[in-house]
Amino acid sequence: MMNHLVSPSLLAADFGNLARDVEIINRSEADWIHCDIMDGMFVPNISFGFPVIEHVKKIARKPLDVHLMIVDPDRYLVKWKETGADILTVQYEACVHLHRTVSEIRKLGMKAGVAVNPHTPVSLLKNILPYIDMVLIMTVNPGFGGQSFIQESYSKISELSKMIKTGGHNVLIEVDGGIDTKNASKLVETGVNVLVAGNSVFGSKDPEATIRQLKRLE
Ligand code: DX5
Ligand code: ZN
Repeated sequence: MMNHLVSPSLLAADFGNLARDVEIINRSEADWIHCDIMDGMFVPNISFGFPVIEHVKKIARKPLDVHLMIVDPDRYLVKWKETGADILTVQYEACVHLHRTVSEIRKLGMKAGVAVNPHTPVSLLKNILPYIDMVLIMTVNPGFGGQSFIQESYSKISELSKMIKTGGHNVLIEVDGGIDTKNASKLVETGVNVLVAGNSVFGSKDPEATIRQLKRLE
């Protein structure tokens, strides 16, 4: 079993001091930097886009884990590669031709992820697992940071973990929404490989220490 990864979410950073917060992630034990892209259509919120992530890429010393919460993501795959995405995750519900989309992401040289909303069953992913590197299980309804974790997510994680093992796939399971130092251990025990954390990290007194706690679970 691999050690789990931690991907702090910039959505909860101080946008007036973004470079300082990226630097906190750089010097911390975090593995990736989670970037939430929202278009005001797929989700009822707008976050940040290319110009902001371009600047983040210039100073980031960790891979960019870009989570697209946008309709019709195919329009921007090349642009995300150019902007510096290392892992590019699209929402299952936003893709009509998901196999084409994830194949294109890999062809461009990025790792391909597929995110599922809380109501989307993981069984729908069976035939796409051979073509992707990661599944992101949304543990809140996407759109905002600081929401509470949906408890039913545990059964989705174990079901997906079994599907991945049975099929012999090389696919990571990431969770996103309401993750903190209290539920992280149980999530990793259930089969999670990557923990995204926004408010629990940047809302804490010492974000670097919180990242260390999320990384070194008891
Ligand atoms: C929600 C985003 C999350 C968000 C998580 O739509 O996809 O990545 O930043 O924030 P917290 O950890 O505060 O729930
Ligand atoms: Zn996210």
